[in-house]
Amino acid sequence: LTPVITIDGPSGSGKGTIARLVADRLGFRLLDSGALYRLTALAALEREADLTDEATLTEIAAGLDIRFELRDGETAAVLGGRDVSRDIRMEEVSMAASKVAAMPGVRAALLQRQRDFRQPPGLVADGRDMGTTVFPDAPVKVFLTASAEERARRRYEQLREKGVSVSLRDLLEDIRARDARDMNRETSPLAPAEDAVELDSTGVDIDDVLQRVLQLVHE
Ligand code: CDP
Repeated sequence: LTPVITIDGPSGSGKGTIARLVADRLGFRLLDSGALYRLTALAALEREADLTDEATLTEIAAGLDIRFELRDGETAAVLGGRDVSRDIRMEEVSMAASKVAAMPGVRAALLQRQRDFRQPPGLVADGRDMGTTVFPDAPVKVFLTASAEERARRRYEQLREKGVSVSLRDLLEDIRARDARDMNRETSPLAPAEDAVELDSTGVDIDDVLQRVLQLVHE
């Protein structure tokens, strides 16, 4: 069976960065499952769909025409032929994604699509429920956390680099709201798998986290 390394955790824990580095290092494919929820949200917003209508959102998720393509060394998210990599990172889409992701129908519609990423030589899967629901048999599972304050600060720095000015306090509130929604939903709430190794990245250098994960892979 093709190996899978799952990296789950809350928003801003650094799992996206770590997942990409681990995939590069091992020559594995990468699944950014959050992008699938973001693409569903974007498609719904563009169609002006009612964001509380689960049947419609499930249909949108099931019918998504998406591809992930390597462009200039970066993975581009392509929706219906358009590169929407930037659009899916907008704050409005982030908020909508977190609402859409709370719907069991949407999660079920995206399940097989996620499993299809498991191809030789291996996969690194980044998300909230990779180790619990999508790849419960993964041999290596990591649950990456960091304090809410640190996660807000990281996001603040990222946005500042892009020239976006926001208040740290608003970001912290945002992160707490999203944590609450992710942890309290009924289907696949954010929680470590029983057999996951929990790593706290608060105050830890990204390279040290990477080394720790690679160690787990080679154990
Ligand atoms: O890292 P960040 O939280 O900013 O976003 P993301 O990982 O791209 O995920 C976007 C949204 O999708 C989050 O708010 C999660 O609620 C949801 N999500 C999920 O429910 N399950 C996953 N496996 C991945 C993301």
